[in-house]
Amino acid sequence: MKDDLTRELEALDLIESLKAVAERFEGKVVFSSSFGQEDMVITDVIFRNNISICIFTLDTGRLFQETYDLMDLTRARYGKEFKIYFPDAADVEEYVTHKGINAFYESVENRKECCFIRKVKPLKRALTGQEVWVTGLRAEQSENRSTLPIWEWDEGFHIYKFNPLVAWSYEQVLDYLKENSVPYNKLHDKGFISIGCAPCTRAIQPGEHPRAGRWWWENSKKECGLHTHGA
Ligand code: ADX
Ligand code: SF4
Repeated sequence: MKDDLTRELEALDLIESLKAVAERFEGKVVFSSSFGQEDMVITDVIFRNNISICIFTLDTGRLFQETYDLMDLTRARYGKEFKIYFPDAADVEEYVTHKGINAFYESVENRKECCFIRKVKPLKRALTGQEVWVTGLRAEQSENRSTLPIWEWDEGFHIYKFNPLVAWSYEQVLDYLKENSVPYNKLHDKGFISIGCAPCTRAIQPGEHPRAGRWWWENSKKECGLHTHGA
């Protein structure tokens, strides 16, 4: 059954819902951005409306140059800061020394370990002491995400998770970006839709699933451990 807050958030538009959550959980709301298209919509709303939600990104050390370029462009465009979390240096050193720099291609286990070191562990650090984690997830993105609610308790990270774009279509995201001239990742002009780390993301062909370019060599569920709903 839906609780009162879920019903309230479902009835509000994006700006109002972000403001409502920021007010209710004052100073304890953070937004994780990978600088993907959905994340740029939320970033634009937070920065332009001065909503008190801290934005952070997980820099795995393996991102595309185009993603780093977008980080700089975003800082310049809004004149605001977002927090950058790196993986623990000792974890990365140990992994690449013993397994190799690109060991994620060798097995799903190695790949998940790399994601754990470079994404999940830093995410835990970023969420420590916070009450609400805002994401750019949409239900349409994959089968795993199709039953995603707008508001949920995340058992893995012990935090409320707020997915304000859950019901948005891809077209709505593109329209928002265009209408508001929001900066975007130049890889989107080269056939990329869902973008993660450079060695683990490729462009997709027309007709392919939008997430087909993520960990394309695997038959796994194509999640990295950040989002466990339905996994
Ligand atoms: S992933 O789990 O497959 O990597 P995806 O790229 O679809 O996730 O992004 C979904 C949401 O996860 C984003 O909207 C963002 O909130 C969060 N996210 C994913 N990657 C990162 C990252 N590197 N830094 C911060 N947040 C991220
Ligand atoms: Fe490592 Fe690839 Fe996961 Fe990035 S997406 S953390 S490079 S396995």
